[in-house]
Amino acid sequence: MARKIKLKGNLQVQVILTPGMIPLYDLDGKIAVVIDILRATSSMCVALENGAVDIMPVESVEEARSFKIGKFVCAAERDGKKVEGFDLGNSPFDYTEKVVKGKSVVMTTTNGTQAINLSRFAYRMVTGAFLNIDKLCEWLLVQDRDILLVCSGWKNKFNLEDTIFAGAVISRIKHKFEVNDDAGIMAENLWDTAKDNLFGYVMKAAHAQRFERLGIERDVKFCLQLGTTDIIPEMVGNYLVKMKKF
Ligand code: MLT
Repeated sequence: MARKIKLKGNLQVQVILTPGMIPLYDLDGKIAVVIDILRATSSMCVALENGAVDIMPVESVEEARSFKIGKFVCAAERDGKKVEGFDLGNSPFDYTEKVVKGKSVVMTTTNGTQAINLSRFAYRMVTGAFLNIDKLCEWLLVQDRDILLVCSGWKNKFNLEDTIFAGAVISRIKHKFEVNDDAGIMAENLWDTAKDNLFGYVMKAAHAQRFERLGIERDVKFCLQLGTTDIIPEMVGNYLVKMKKF
């Protein structure tokens, strides 16, 4: 199918396939949606849903460790595993109401928190997951800004699950936003291929296979549920907080 020709002034949605590609894009004035389906941005939704006051994403384990005093719940994950000595890893099942309600969470993960920190200078930065896709797309559709869908990938490499999600978002908002980049076209094609058997398709992904080896496939199933929460985590200063009603 031929691509639409860009009309001057039309809003655009683009897909950034890996955090390493963020410097190739101009974040200025745009909305960045950071995506780490397995599992950082899924767990962030769960933490805020279960009453965490806010989440501070930090890049290094050392930095996260420095908050292991006082009021913080500290979470650290590397290579899919909880880092020893921390309260939590990155499983959505870790972020129960009992553990996070009324607390500030400091979090570092292999890819997601790095992508967040690189995207924070966008006009607004939010996080996306299948869990909040309905509300997220509803919100994106009433924004008059270009959108960057930022995939966290795996160690600066492409991954399937974040790209599939970017495609799912595009399929829902493309009547308002133009898709002019090949990454966006590919993402939507991937979503079309995967959508009727999302779990089966995502289980092909390298990180899902890593989870299978670690015996935590239930996390994959959990993170692939669509529209279970209305929460949109938004970066305000150094913290991700629940976006106020819009
Ligand atoms: C990440 O930041 O790469 C992840 O969310 C990894 C994970 O949860 O296993």
